Amino acid sequence: MDLTPSRMCSKIQDSPVFDFSDWCASQLSTVENALDDWVACPTDTKTPSDLGAAMRYAVLGGGKRLRPLLTMAACNAVAGNQMAALRAACAVELIHAYSLVHDDMPCMDNDSIRRGKPTVHVRYGEAQALLAGDALQALAFELLTPDDDTVDCETQSVLCRTLAQAAGCAGMAGGQAIDLASVGLALTSEQLHQMHSLKTGALLQASVKMGAYCGQASSPVSQALHEYGSAIGLAFQVIDDVLDVTADSIILGKTAGKDAAHDKPTFVTLMGLNAANAYAQQLLANAQSSLNVLHEHGLHNTHALHALANMLVNRHH
Ligand code: IPE
Ligand code: IPE
Ligand code: MG
Ligand code: MG
Ligand code: MG
Repeated sequence: MDLTPSRMCSKIQDSPVFDFSDWCASQLSTVENALDDWVACPTDTKTPSDLGAAMRYAVLGGGKRLRPLLTMAACNAVAGNQMAALRAACAVELIHAYSLVHDDMPCMDNDSIRRGKPTVHVRYGEAQALLAGDALQALAFELLTPDDDTVDCETQSVLCRTLAQAAGCAGMAGGQAIDLASVGLALTSEQLHQMHSLKTGALLQASVKMGAYCGQASSPVSQALHEYGSAIGLAFQVIDDVLDVTADSIILGKTAGKDAAHDKPTFVTLMGLNAANAYAQQLLANAQSSLNVLHEHGLHNTHALHALANMLVNRHH
């Protein structure tokens, strides 16, 4: 085999053009089918509980599935174990779905619409929404610990630890606590960065990290993906803040204008709309350039990571 640089270069240029829509369609179909299978929880006809139905309602039939796509893209980039990545992709989506169920409850943001449908507590009642969130969180970790030999024990343990850290006190839940404690306050830039990195950035970053771990990425590659995840994680919430002001509820599938109505500090209140948009674009550029390190290490399958970063920052809902 001819491995001279010019020959390798021409091989890369000759590789078929990456079609992001095709890639997304195929990954989304795999993820949706897996979620449908794994969040089976059939309602027990012998008891009056419809907890399983509330869980399925929270997870299926909506959502952009950005976190699962990031996990699959990171795994592809490092040529990792696809089965482990699919479990990680679904697990992070379950944690995300649970965080949305709780975020929408009256004790938090009190929202009545999510993913274009009535929120879980509106449809099933508050107690059932609380329990559906709890049960989705438990199910996420069950998915990461299969009792067959598809995912080795060390990988299972690292994936569990990574997701637990991102979901817990030093991640999403901690960020949500800061969010609630910050109503009506003018946070400093540093405080707002901290809140956003935790409440939203941590799970997005974990999505990338878990995908990378499925391929046992080397330390510089892991570090580059860490930087990518941290930039897109923050950019994602900056754009969520922008869309809360600029988009309408029908397109968003959730109530627009809630941040101002609840007097929440956001990147729009901190720096204004134009600067917030410009900041998100700067974070996007940082994310894209961090992927150069992968190329330097011979990993050229980064198209999906590039395209996802772009989609996440330039989205309209
Ligand atoms: C919304 O996340 C909540 C935040 C973390 C800001 P997404 O915009 O990813 O929501 P879905 O999954 O597409 O509904
Ligand atoms: C929610 O942030 C973040 C989590 C669910 C962890 P927001 O409260 O801004 O999300 P939306 O705008 O309701 O989707
Ligand atoms: Mg909230
Ligand atoms: Mg909310
Ligand atoms: Mg928001």
